[in-house]
Amino acid sequence: MESMTDAPIKITKTTASKLEQVDFSNLTFGKNFTDHMFVCDYKNGEWQTPEIVPYGPITMEPSAKVFHYGQAVFEGMKAFKDDNDDVFLFRPKDNLDRINKSAKRMAIPAFPESYFMEGLQALLNLDRNWIKAGAGNSLYIRPFVIATESGVSASPSSSYRFMIICAPANAYYKGEVKVLFAEKYSRSADGGVGYAKAAGNYGAQFFPTSLAQAEGFQQIIWTDAKTHEYLEEAGTMNIFFRVNDTLLTAPISDRILDGITRKSLIQIAEDKGIDVQVRPVSVKEIVEAAKNGSLKEIFGAGTAATINPISGFGHKGETFDLPKLESSYASNFKKELMAIQYNTKDDPYGWRH
Ligand code: COI
Repeated sequence: MESMTDAPIKITKTTASKLEQVDFSNLTFGKNFTDHMFVCDYKNGEWQTPEIVPYGPITMEPSAKVFHYGQAVFEGMKAFKDDNDDVFLFRPKDNLDRINKSAKRMAIPAFPESYFMEGLQALLNLDRNWIKAGAGNSLYIRPFVIATESGVSASPSSSYRFMIICAPANAYYKGEVKVLFAEKYSRSADGGVGYAKAAGNYGAQFFPTSLAQAEGFQQIIWTDAKTHEYLEEAGTMNIFFRVNDTLLTAPISDRILDGITRKSLIQIAEDKGIDVQVRPVSVKEIVEAAKNGSLKEIFGAGTAATINPISGFGHKGETFDLPKLESSYASNFKKELMAIQYNTKDDPYGWRH
């Protein structure tokens, strides 16, 4: 992967910061971007010298392959600030590994680790004032790669652009989240790209999600494409179910994203002595558990969403409300995770960077 020598990153600073124009008390997720962005082009079979430049539009040929064939992958990560003004990333190497796994599936060349880590560090150093301390505040970091070669032949691009842009964030979902169990549409299939953070995986969910939204649900919980009998993933987050005191979540597969928050929660729950079952979770058992009162919680886990409690779900025309708990797994895990992310407790796992 490290096919090139460590070239210094070329940095061009902005002359007009936008920081003062942002109302940090009223952020819409992913709307305001910081002053700088990281850019690295791939051509002639190798990644070129990375650059950090002022955030702004990029110019591309209309025939660039990303526009026609969706050859693009992305990541979601966050930076957090503690009360001493120190900035932390959470398991960043896992994001690099995953973007390269996604890239491989989309015939995109892997990005070198040193460029990724040094690029992130340089970018966060420049834009560190955009990261606010305090629980819930973070900087959402969006690395992505697009196919830039012009020409509409349906074949992999020979040139790419790797970029990192950043947006200050607090909550992704504001208010209650109700989910609909998918019955008709599917997100992914065996042998497909569901496990990758391929751009098209997300675009393909917009239409069915808008139908669910019209019925009062914010998200869909996707079921397996073959039978629609097993609950797999909500499009912006992995999903967990608590039946009595047992925690259930689907195993990762071709169809399910290997979520970093997901695997962190599994570890935290296991270390608390909770019975965690990573196995196919059927619609039938969850509907039954909702009916007999043993379904205590459903929550989503993802970088953008963090840990998001689900207040109810819909299935075949019926809706089920979840109980409001004094002390939920979702809130306990969130506290634990945030203490690691915001450096308010030891990190026994070595996740804080
Ligand atoms: C993330 O949680 O970072 C994601 O990539 C989900 C995104 C679709 C908002």
